Order: sequence, then C-alpha cells, then structure tokens
Amino acid sequence: MIPAIRASSTAPAPKNMDRSFPAGSMPRLLAVANQKGGVGKTTTAVNLATALAAVGKRVLLVDLDPQGNASTGLGVKRSDIRKSAYDLIFEEGLNAAELAVSTKVPGLYVVPSSMHLAGAEIELVTVKRREYRLREALRRPLPFDYVITDCPPSLSLVTLNALVAVDAVVVPLQCEFYALEGLSHLVKTIDRVRQHFNPKLDIHGVLLTMYDPRNRLSGAVADDVREFFGEKVYQTVIPRNVRLSEAPSFGLPAIVYDMKCPGAQAYIRLAGEIIRREKKLQAELLALQSDSREKSQDPQSPDTKVNA
Ligand SMILES: Nc1ncnc2c1ncn2[C@@H]1O[C@H](COP(=O)(O)OP(=O)(O)OP(=O)(O)O)[C@@H](O)[C@H]1O
Ligand SMILES: [Mg+2]
Repeated sequence: MIPAIRASSTAPAPKNMDRSFPAGSMPRLLAVANQKGGVGKTTTAVNLATALAAVGKRVLLVDLDPQGNASTGLGVKRSDIRKSAYDLIFEEGLNAAELAVSTKVPGLYVVPSSMHLAGAEIELVTVKRREYRLREALRRPLPFDYVITDCPPSLSLVTLNALVAVDAVVVPLQCEFYALEGLSHLVKTIDRVRQHFNPKLDIHGVLLTMYDPRNRLSGAVADDVREFFGEKVYQTVIPRNVRLSEAPSFGLPAIVYDMKCPGAQAYIRLAGEIIRREKKLQAELLALQSDSREKSQDPQSPDTKVNA
C-alpha cells in the first residue's frame, strides 16, 4: 500500500535539495501546535508528514522548536545543517525549498531547527512585521503539496509566526486529566490571530493522542473533548504505543521503523482522514466561489446591484 516507505531504508543520507526541483504551486500549510509540552506534537508532525509522503504527496516539515526533535527524529545530523528555520525567519527572501534537507523518506524534506531559535523570541521583538516573517517565507509557490510546521511548547512569537503563516492548525491533545487545561488559551490565541493577522486561519482538527483503552480516564477525556469540539475531533485516535517513542532514537519515523505497529497504523489512518477533510474543504470552497460568481453575473442579485 505504501511502497515509498519500503524503498526508504536504502535512500541516500540526507542532503540539501536538488535545485532543479520544479517551482511548484501554493502548498497547503498546516501547523501542529499546542503550548502544552509533551502532548505528541513532534510525533504527530513527523509521522503525519511521513504518511502523507508515503501516499505520494510532496511534504516539507519545518522544525520550529529549538529542541530540534523533529529534525533528529528524521535522521538529520547537525553537520548536515547549513541553514535552518531560524534563517528562514530572519533572512528575507530565502526560499524554503533551498533550505530543505532530504530525509530517508522519499518525498519528505525538512527545514531543520537550530539552537538559535531559542533566542529568536527576543530578536524578533525589534524586527519589522515580526508576526509575518514565516508567512512571507512560506506563502509562495513551493515544490510541495504540504508544508507542516512543528511548533515549540509555548505561545511565543515563533508559534505566533506559524499561526499567522498557515491555513489551519492540527491540535494534538493528550488523553490525560489536564488535557483541556490551557486549551481555551490556545483557542483564544487562534481567534485573535484570525482577527488581526490571518482571517482564514482554521482549526483543522483536534487529535487525541496517547490513548490507552485500559485506562477509563482516557475514554472519559476523549468523550469530553468530543463533546466540546464536536466534529473537529478526528475520528482517528493515536494509541499509547512504545514503538512511537522508540523510533526517534533510530532517526526514523515510526512508520518506517515499524510500519505495522498500532501507532504507525493510526498515523497512516490520520493522513487518510486529513486528505479527505482537505478534499471536502476544497469542494466547499469551489462551490462558494462559483456561487459568488453566479451572484455577480445575476442582474437581480443584491451583490450586482450594489456593484452597479
Ligand atoms: N502515542 C504515543 N505513545 C507513546 N509515547 C508517545 C506517543 N506520542 C508521543 N510519545 C512520546 O511522548 C514524548 C512526548 O512526545 P512529543 O515529543 O511528540 O511531544 P511534544 O508535544 O512535541 O513535546 P514538546 O512539547 O516537548 O515539543 C516523547 O518521548 C514521545 O516519544
Ligand atoms: Mg515537540
């Protein structure tokens, strides 16, 4: 079903992207964000990106966390890094495709993290249009279908840059007692970003992670979250699975490390669900566009009268 992954173990070591890559079109931009630490953001960003690449999508993962777990989890060595996400934010005119480092997964590239990102917060304060730096770097034709940003565990200016840049946010939520704590803060931040910087920003979906069916609390938390967020919660639930936590130490996504493990299978299902949601959103957008086109051509339409 996913031949790209099987071929991956013989892929060459990461290197900078072939400059002859086609210019491409506008990618779909997703941020994986939750200011709460350790909820599965990086595991989700890495394995979702891998699963999308495995079904033939061209994917760029931008590692915005100075911890650099997504970069190391994809086997990128510090010595391979020439320019990083830090440069993408601060150097005007840089092309993300030129910074992209290939990974062992065909079709999956990463703009790696850098320790300098830890200081970015303070450096950004005095920068012009500081909230738009990443948006200006990523909202342009790129040779990728998806750009996924892995955010740090804070609502810092770096995370804000990601929220201003992307189309939608994937919010991982750990199935534990304090899961919903702080979530209202994230939702308020997303609302504020929508009002002031990025009117089309949407919550793509809420992802329940580290679900343990033997633990009644996991089920209770999942019910609460579904009651609160309704259809925004993905049907796919990521189970607690030790293989997901072992894989990064081998510099591999879990989907490559052990494709059959329940965690990897769940991320493959999630990618399918996300692609289906994307198609539905696209169809709704097209319907909306043709509707407004029809209205503007209809002489009886109030829109046309106003314009006349
Ligand atoms: N479904 C899972 N089952 C078991 N372990 C998991 C699962 N998801 C993530 N982990 C492990 O939990 C830890 C935290 O996960 P991860 O690094 O993805 O979270 P994070 O939200 O990115 O953390 P941070 O906020 O520090 O960036 C890691 O050790 C990871 O391997
Ligand atoms: Mg992380």
